[in-house]
Amino acid sequence: MDVKKYVRDVKDFPKEGIIFKDITPVLSNPEVFKFVIDGMIEDIKDWNFDTIIGPEARGFIFAAPLAYKMGKKFVPVRKPGKLPYKKISASYDLEYGSATLEMHIDAIEKGERVIIVDDVLATGGTTAAIVELVKKAGGIVEGVYNFAELSFLNPREKLNDIKVGSLIEY
Ligand code: PRP
Repeated sequence: MDVKKYVRDVKDFPKEGIIFKDITPVLSNPEVFKFVIDGMIEDIKDWNFDTIIGPEARGFIFAAPLAYKMGKKFVPVRKPGKLPYKKISASYDLEYGSATLEMHIDAIEKGERVIIVDDVLATGGTTAAIVELVKKAGGIVEGVYNFAELSFLNPREKLNDIKVGSLIEY
């Protein structure tokens, strides 16, 4: 299946000059969404991890079904002020602007093996900030896996020697 047919380019969103990858056509077609989730699981089935971290908001859409189907623990990373308990935080640069992410202080145990799953890996800023959160918590990043990767933005430069995989690449 040509999954890219279901990713819509939206020009000048959320700012002029940005071509936004709109994943909603993937989500609105149950056959395509199932193909995508199953394909992502197939790609990472041999990775060694206990836990999947998903960043708010679009990361949740892919990370949670993977955690459910693979029988793994799910940890949400959220934008500031959303998590109720004690938190750790990390700041990062976005393709458009800058921001901070938070994770509960007890979300990850020392030595826990985690992967980070997101919809789009663009500049890599979001993922690099989550790697920092995992390290602060004493966890080990097994790898990073995305629905789509914007290779032309060179996100892997921010992720050093971390294993990175993606279902589709631009
Ligand atoms: C988007 C996307 C990734 C991130 C990728 O999230 O869902 O998490 O940007 O960009 P980066 O690699 O340059 O950091 P966004 O922060 O727009 O939030 P949303 O999912 O809540 O819309």
